[in-house]
Amino acid sequence: MSQEGTARGGGELFDGPSVDAFVHRAFMRGRGLSAEQVRRRPVIGICSSWSELNPCNSGLDRVAQAVKDGVTAAGGLPLVFPTISISEPFSRPSSMLLRNLMAMDVEQMIASSPIDAVVLLGGCDKTVPAQLMGAISAGKPALVVTAGPRQVGCWRGESLTVDDLWPLADRRRQGLVSDEQWRELEDCLNPSTGTCNVMGTAITMAAIAEVLGFALPGSSLPVATGARRLALAEETGRRIVAAAGEKLRPSELVTPAALENAVRVVCAVSGSTNAVVHLAAIAGRAGIRLSRAKLRQWTRDTPVLADVRPAGRHLLAQLEQDGGIPAVVRRLGDRMHLDCRTATGRRWADELPPDEGPTPSLRTVEDPVDADGALAVLEGNLAPDGAIIKRSAASARLLRHVGPAVVFDGVDDLHARIDDPALPIGPDSVLVLRGTGPRGGPGMPEVGHLPIPRRLLDAGVDDMVRISDARMSGTATGTVVLHVAPEAAVGGPLSLVRDGDPIRLDVPAGALELLVDPAVLGAREPVLPAGVPPRRGYDLLYWRHVSQAPAGCDFDFLRGAEGPGGGDD
Ligand code: FES
Repeated sequence: MSQEGTARGGGELFDGPSVDAFVHRAFMRGRGLSAEQVRRRPVIGICSSWSELNPCNSGLDRVAQAVKDGVTAAGGLPLVFPTISISEPFSRPSSMLLRNLMAMDVEQMIASSPIDAVVLLGGCDKTVPAQLMGAISAGKPALVVTAGPRQVGCWRGESLTVDDLWPLADRRRQGLVSDEQWRELEDCLNPSTGTCNVMGTAITMAAIAEVLGFALPGSSLPVATGARRLALAEETGRRIVAAAGEKLRPSELVTPAALENAVRVVCAVSGSTNAVVHLAAIAGRAGIRLSRAKLRQWTRDTPVLADVRPAGRHLLAQLEQDGGIPAVVRRLGDRMHLDCRTATGRRWADELPPDEGPTPSLRTVEDPVDADGALAVLEGNLAPDGAIIKRSAASARLLRHVGPAVVFDGVDDLHARIDDPALPIGPDSVLVLRGTGPRGGPGMPEVGHLPIPRRLLDAGVDDMVRISDARMSGTATGTVVLHVAPEAAVGGPLSLVRDGDPIRLDVPAGALELLVDPAVLGAREPVLPAGVPPRRGYDLLYWRHVSQAPAGCDFDFLRGAEGPGGGDD
C-alpha cells in the first residue's frame, strides 16, 4: 500500500473521508487500536533511542511507557518509534561520527510521520544533541525526557562513580591494581542502567535541554531507575499534548538569550567541554552562530557554583537535593535571561525555587567554588579558530606553562610510543596529539585526555599539558586543551608542530602559542593524517560535509534550514 507523493503533515492525515485517511486509520487499527483510539488528537510521536546496544539508554522503554500514559491521560494518541541510538563506549571509530546521522534520522522521522508533536527520549552523550538538532530542523513541537544518571556504585567501602575509572586505569597501568581488584571493579562500576553518574557530557546535555526549554525544570538529575523519572515522563506526556496545540517550533526556543543561558549554566555546573560543540550545532540548526567572542565573555564572567563530580566533590544526588538546575538558574541571578521559556510553557522567572541559602553542593555568586569560571576559550597561532580547556578540571600550576612539544600522529602512534622508556619526555613537556579532529579522527574521538607516560606516573607526575584537535570525555580531568581549530587534517597549525617546539599555554590570557619563528613555520610541510578518504556511503558524506568544531561539526547543508528540503541560512 503506497502513499507516495502524499504531502508531509501531522495527525490530520488520519482524519476525513479520503482514501488516504482511511488507510492511515485502517493500518493503525491493524495494530489493535480501537476506532476511538485512532481518532484521539493530537498524535504524539515518542522518538526513542532505546537500544540493547546502548546500555545507558536501555531504561528508556519504561520511560516511553510513562510518556504514553501521560499522553493518553491528556487525550492524545501516543505512538513510539525508534531511531538509531549511539552508545559512547561501543561506537567506533567515534560516536561523534554518527551524531549527524542520528540527527538526520530523527529529523526525517519526525517530519515524515503523521504526528503533531514529539517527545524525544535520549540519554547517552550524543543522543540528546542529535535529537535536538533533528527536532529543530523538523520544526514540530518537541519536548525531551532524558534517561537520567545511573545509580552510584560502591567499591571497597567507598562510593564509586564513572570518573573514578580514569585514575584507577592509570593505577592499573602502573601495576597497582590487581587482576582481582580489576574484576571486582567491573562488577560494580555501573550498578544500573542510566547515563554516566557525574556532570559529564550526558548530564550536561540534559541540563542544556532543561535550560533551553525542552525538558521539564528539575528533570536532569533524578536517577534513571527512580520513581521521580517516571513521574517526570508522565508529566511530559501530558504537557506535550498542550504544547502540540501551541504549535511552538523548537527553533523558537533556541534564541540567542536561551543559548547564553545554556552556556552560563554549563559553566556554573562545571559541565563538559563537549557541550560547547553540541551547542554550536544546536544553535546552527536555528540559524544562529555561537561566536567565539560571546563564548569567551560568558565563560569568563560565569563563576563555578556547583561543587559536583568530576571537577568537584559532591555526587549529583546532592545537587538534586540542593535544588538541581532550577536552583543553579536562580543562583546565577541577573546573569540569566529569566524571561526565556521553560518546557512548562512558563518563563524561568516563574519556575525558580525559593533560595534557602548555602547548600552543600551549590554555592553563591558572592562565594563561588571558583570565580574564574569552568571553561576557557583559547586562541593564538596554534589555534587561529579557537580551542577550549576545562579550567576547573586543570591543575592550577599548569594554567600558565611553556614546554617542549612531544608530538603524536594519531591514536595508534600514541599507544605505540607513550610508554616507550626511550621517549624523550619530562614533566614539563607538552603532549600534542593531532589527526584526531572532526575529519581526521574521524569524528573527534574522545582521546584528548592523553595518558601520562608510565615512567612519569611512577615518578609521581599526575598531570601534564595536553593539546589536541580531539575531544575529551566529560568525566575526565586534567590540563587538557581540546578542539583545536582548524584541525591538523585540514592543514591547521597543529600539522606544523615538531618535537621540541616550545608551546605556550596561558589560560588566564586565553592564549595558545607555538613559539616558533613564522619563517621557520612557513618552510615546513604540514603533517596530514595518513589514510585515504572514504570511498562510499555515510563515511564519504561525513568526510565531504563535516564542519570544524566552532560550527559544531554539523554538516554544512544542515545548518539553519528548517524542514527537510528547506532553504539555506
Ligand atoms: Fe553513556 Fe556516559 S557512556 S552516558
